[in-house]
Amino acid sequence: MIRYIKIVVFGICLIPLGILLSKFFGPHPFDMSGWGLGLGANPVEALEHGFGDWTLRFLLVTLSITPLRKLLQVPSLIKFRRMMGLFAFFYGCAHFTTYLWLDKFFNLHEILLDVAKRKYITVGFTGFVLLIPLALTSTAGWIRRLGGKRWLALHRLIYAAAIAGVIHYLWLVKADIRKPLEYGAVLAVLLGYRVVVWWMALAKRRPMPVASTEVVTGR
Ligand code: HEM
Repeated sequence: MIRYIKIVVFGICLIPLGILLSKFFGPHPFDMSGWGLGLGANPVEALEHGFGDWTLRFLLVTLSITPLRKLLQVPSLIKFRRMMGLFAFFYGCAHFTTYLWLDKFFNLHEILLDVAKRKYITVGFTGFVLLIPLALTSTAGWIRRLGGKRWLALHRLIYAAAIAGVIHYLWLVKADIRKPLEYGAVLAVLLGYRVVVWWMALAKRRPMPVASTEVVTGR
C-alpha cells in the first residue's frame, strides 16, 4: 500500500516542476517567439524564484514529518521523509542550475564575485552546499556505514540549511519581507518543537537533586 502512496506522492512533488517548465517553455497566445511569456516579463527570474520557493517549501515539509508523525500518531509518515528531503535537494539543484546557466551563463568570474560579495548569495550557497552531504548519505547503506547516531548528527545539518534558506530569502527581498517572514515563522515553530522535545528528554534524564531525594526518602 505504502508503495502505491509513495508513487502518487512522488508524482505530486513533480507538479511544481511541470508547471514551471511548461510555463517557461510553453507557447503563450500573445508571445510571438513562442516561449517564455507564460512566466511574465522576466521568465528566467520567475523560474529561478519558483525553484527557490519550492526548495524552501520542501525543506519545511521535510522538517514537519517528525512532529506530524508524533502529533498525529502516524509512524509510517517517516517513510516519506527521505523523499521530501531529496525533493528539496532536487529543487535546490534546479534553482542553482537556473542561476548558473540562465542567469550567469556559466560566467565563473561573475559567479565567484557574486558568492563572495553579495551576502544573500553567500548564505544561499552555504545552504545548498550543506544539503549535498545529506543527499549523498540518504541511502540505507550510508546509515549502516555511519551508524545511526553519527548519521542522525550529520543530518541535523538540515536545520542549518533551512535557516540559511530563510536568511537568504530575507536578505534578497528589497521591500516586502512578509513572505520570508512567513517561512521563518514556520521554521521557528518546527525548530522550537525540537528544542522542547530535547529539553523534556534532558529533564527526564537529569538525576534528582540531593535535597529533593532527602525530602522523598525522609532521611
Ligand atoms: C538551501 C538553498 C536555497 C534556498 C532554500 C533558496 C531559496 C530561495 C528563495 C525562496 C528565493 C526567492 C523566491 C521568490 O522570490 O519567490 C530565492 C531567490 C534567489 N536565489 Fe536562492 N535559495 C537557495 C540557494 C541558492 C543558491 C546556491 C544560489 C546561487 C548561488 C541562489 C541564488 C538565488 C538568486 C539569484 C535569487 C533571486 C534573487 C533576486 O531576484 O534578486 N539561491 N532563493
